[in-house]
Amino acid sequence: MASFQLKIFVFLAGLLVLVGEANSALHRIPIQKSPNFKRSHKNIVAERDFVQQKYSRQYTANGYPTEHLSNFDNFQYYGNISIGTPGQYFLVQFDTGSSNLWVPGSSCTSTACEDHQVFNENQSTTYVANGTTFSITYGTGSVSGYLSVDNVGFAGLTVQKQTFGEVTTEQGTNFVDAYFDGILGMGFPSLAVDGVTPTFQNMISQGLVQSPVFSFFLRDNGSVIFYGGELILGGSDPSLYSGSLTYVDVIQTAYWKFQTDYIKVGSALISTFAEAIADTGTSLIIAPQTQYSQISQLFNANSEGLFECSSTAYPDLVININGVDFRIPAKYYIIQEGYICSLAIQSIDQDFWIMGDVFLGRFYTEFDVGNQRLGFAPVNSAVSLSQVLLWRISTVLLACGIWKLRN
Ligand SMILES: *[C@@H]1O[C@H](CO)[C@@H](O)[C@H](O)[C@H]1NC(C)=O
Ligand SMILES: *[C@@H]1O[C@H](CO)[C@@H](O)[C@H](O)[C@H]1NC(C)=O
Ligand SMILES: *[C@@H]1O[C@H](CO)[C@@H](O)[C@H](O)[C@H]1NC(C)=O
Ligand SMILES: *[C@@H]1O[C@H](CO)[C@@H](O)[C@H](O)[C@H]1NC(C)=O
Repeated sequence: MASFQLKIFVFLAGLLVLVGEANSALHRIPIQKSPNFKRSHKNIVAERDFVQQKYSRQYTANGYPTEHLSNFDNFQYYGNISIGTPGQYFLVQFDTGSSNLWVPGSSCTSTACEDHQVFNENQSTTYVANGTTFSITYGTGSVSGYLSVDNVGFAGLTVQKQTFGEVTTEQGTNFVDAYFDGILGMGFPSLAVDGVTPTFQNMISQGLVQSPVFSFFLRDNGSVIFYGGELILGGSDPSLYSGSLTYVDVIQTAYWKFQTDYIKVGSALISTFAEAIADTGTSLIIAPQTQYSQISQLFNANSEGLFECSSTAYPDLVININGVDFRIPAKYYIIQEGYICSLAIQSIDQDFWIMGDVFLGRFYTEFDVGNQRLGFAPVNSAVSLSQVLLWRISTVLLACGIWKLRN
């Protein structure tokens, strides 16, 4: 009897290790969550202005009124990467709405650099100078500096000779309070400042990922502090979503832009065939102005987007992609502060929608670079940190068990 149980145990353990091995084509980076994250009306308005500037960069200035971004509490997700040899560690925001990697350099004396990790070229044996100047505008400020080349490590992979921005000046960006040091852009190469090849494109050409795909599992308002989800390189993990992915083609390879079939609030039709962008660097949902006005009228919101919370239930926001409804319950897109409610939907002066974390936190998103398409599926809400930990610990324990049995 005991030997039968032993056989079962060894069989199960072997199965688990096999499953683990099958999954090793995927490289995972834990996403951390800002401990200060708070979606308040003030943060939402500040973020709207930041997003307006982010998306105006490629277009002509339009005189849109801007408010100084007072905090970065809306930017909730970031992860740990290394640059150089030996690795110097940085927390970066993984941003599908831009395409450059930048971190503060050691010659930066701006306040924002003082509070963050800085890259020291002299302490890396693989550093190569480039020296071309670069500058990116954010909100009312900018980050600027010069390009450098070095190895970049994340998720156990090392990208050789990645060109990145070493920031020497951060002016008025208020990245001072940000929990991350820099940004790692995951948009398409055509968006990249100075024509720099983005990190993921180098990963593909250096054969580091089995498949030219990455995906985000973001836990918006997850119950576990610090565990914000995972960025997965090389594919998708079906255990993190329910059902199957709904695919839609990317219609412009700059941003991750796709076409929706329709967008509704409850039964009220807001738009048909609207274009939208999947942007992990934005926390809100951003609508074009006409559609935003329609939504705000439904709630009787004032010009600031504020309205008195009603006791009746609010409808879902429904985004139909390739024939499938993606529903966002009201509690995720309406922020309640006392009796006052506000929308986590804002508008900027663009003709497309931007789907930030309010959307991406509900739907696992696959960014398929090879096939130029996006895949969406509801996140598997059953996945909790304790389950993830339990799974990993049991795999290790069982592997140890096998080792003991064999020796
Ligand atoms: C990043 O990862 C390295 C290596 O695991 C670790 O030493 C460092 O503390 C991490 N940094 C942060 C801010 O988590
Ligand atoms: C790096 O080395 C150069 C040349 O020796 C020196 O001028 C510079 O100050 C050093 N930078 C740092 C951050 O140590
Ligand atoms: C610096 O990097 C840019 C972008 O990758 C490249 O076009 C340029 O040729 C490089 N310049 C030098 C001097 O290496
Ligand atoms: C978000 O988390 C807070 C604190 O855990 C909780 O009070 C709130 O109901 C959550 N919101 C949603 C939409 O789940």
